Amino acid sequence: MMDRRKFLTNSGMLALSTCLTSCGGNSVASLIENTGLKAAFKDKFSVGTAISTKSLSEYGSKQLKLIAQEFNAITAENDFKWEMLRPSPNHWHWDLADKFVEFGLNNNMQMVGHALVWHSQIPESVFFNQKKQLLPRTQLLTMMEEHTNTVVGRYRGKIQVWDVVNEAFKQGNWRKSHWYNGIGEDYFEHAFRFAEAADPKAQLIYNDYGMDDPSKQQRVIEVINNCKRKGVKIDGIGMQSHLHLDGPSINEIERSILAYANAGLRVNITELEIDVLPKIEDYGNADIGNKYAYRKELDPYKKALPLAMEQKLAQRYEDVFKLYVKHSDKIDRVTLWGTSDDESWKNDFPIKGRTNYPLLFDRNQQPKLAHRRLKKLSL
Ligand code: G3I
Repeated sequence: MMDRRKFLTNSGMLALSTCLTSCGGNSVASLIENTGLKAAFKDKFSVGTAISTKSLSEYGSKQLKLIAQEFNAITAENDFKWEMLRPSPNHWHWDLADKFVEFGLNNNMQMVGHALVWHSQIPESVFFNQKKQLLPRTQLLTMMEEHTNTVVGRYRGKIQVWDVVNEAFKQGNWRKSHWYNGIGEDYFEHAFRFAEAADPKAQLIYNDYGMDDPSKQQRVIEVINNCKRKGVKIDGIGMQSHLHLDGPSINEIERSILAYANAGLRVNITELEIDVLPKIEDYGNADIGNKYAYRKELDPYKKALPLAMEQKLAQRYEDVFKLYVKHSDKIDRVTLWGTSDDESWKNDFPIKGRTNYPLLFDRNQQPKLAHRRLKKLSL
């Protein structure tokens, strides 16, 4: 357990230490330990959030103080992705990743490395030669292994969980990513083998959206079982859970949790938010490639969210967390994909420039009705 006096005098958190030490030593530590959502669900699962590039760039920001108070798990929203860590083959950019780890250590938080092998946000130079030809299999495997060794190795023993492969399937089929096209299906197992070799103690996860889709579910379980039969270490799955007010249903989510748990996999809710804006077809598909044109009628709450919608959102969060609590024996972690509405990727996806309200804190970093409902759940 991190010595909290170190946390309180850490330069980045001096302001917090000043105000908190006035309460006197131990009560300060217990104040931090026993506040927020992490305290509400401490006997159920860890509660996390995604930390934005903006928050990490402003280390010691108001947002980070709120995160330290509310959560006991963190994921870097973008700053562990290949294009942010290594924008070109000979240029590593560790600054924000190091700040993320420093913040997590200072606050005794579970840290999640997101994401080692993904189809998005990886420079094309990783996959193609100067003539724009896809590199041969052996070279792509070497690239993957070297990247994994470097990143996982740097934080061995500090980052406890890795999203090793992210979004390898579209419905029930292999996503034809450069990894797939250049290496073949077994890029999946090699990614996990490299990660285990780099840190045998880390929890290794397969992370994806739409994990309630029966065809994707079947394929994920089949591929993971095949890997495990070959001795590949895969500890669990991440259900990203980019939900909408109107779906998927609690029953569909519950069926998915049970399917993965019955396959012997730990379940993590990894990127939860609840979109309150008018639905676009094929919702639940967080495929970053999907974009739609702005239309006013799809952006109805520019100024504020009406109370009726606030209440609907609170009820949906309560229903979803009640399900998570019911299956807390199967669920290790519930991570929100952001802390306050202003920073949510859902303001710009799948339509740029909308005003969304999908998280638990508002644009002034104040707890919303949904947050208050979740705190009551634990009483
Ligand atoms: O860093 C640049 C900045 O320099 C530039 O000025 C700005 C203007 O375009 O873009 C910035 O990069 C943006 C990046 O987020 C960092 O803010 C990218 O354009 C933007 O596409 C990127 O969006 C991220 C998205 O993944 C795309 O990869 C979202 O923040 C992030 O929430 C989202 O998260 C993903 C998970 O990693 C995987 N699961 C799905 C989830 C949603 O797509």
